[in-house]
Amino acid sequence: MSKLALKVNGKSHTVDVEPSTPLLYVLRNDLGLHGPRFGCGLAQCGACSVLLDGKEIRSCVTPVAAVSGKAITTLEGMPALYAKARGTFEQALRLAEEAGIDERFRPFIERRLESIDELGPGGGSAA
Ligand code: FES
Repeated sequence: MSKLALKVNGKSHTVDVEPSTPLLYVLRNDLGLHGPRFGCGLAQCGACSVLLDGKEIRSCVTPVAAVSGKAITTLEGMPALYAKARGTFEQALRLAEEAGIDERFRPFIERRLESIDELGPGGGSAA
């Protein structure tokens, strides 16, 4: 057993597990996060997917020691990620309006806001 530091959904955790334990087991059994699920256990179905530093990985085949110190986001952490992304583009639109930036940029920013809304809570397939 080894003590490993994990950062999951913005919160820091220390777990005492075998370094080769799949991340999925640690998330579900040690941290009580049931968003990632066990499906195939072979990196084929995606049921166990989480974000690692913003990139999707399959937690069923990822040893927990390989992700220590990196930012892990599970399904439970997606609303905060959505809010952060939306806030960034809202701020960009506000700054563009205040600075009197060329109106040609407005449709670009508004389209980004719409696409975030489609993927965020209550929108798209995430609903
Ligand atoms: S459980 Fe199917 S990809 Fe991980």
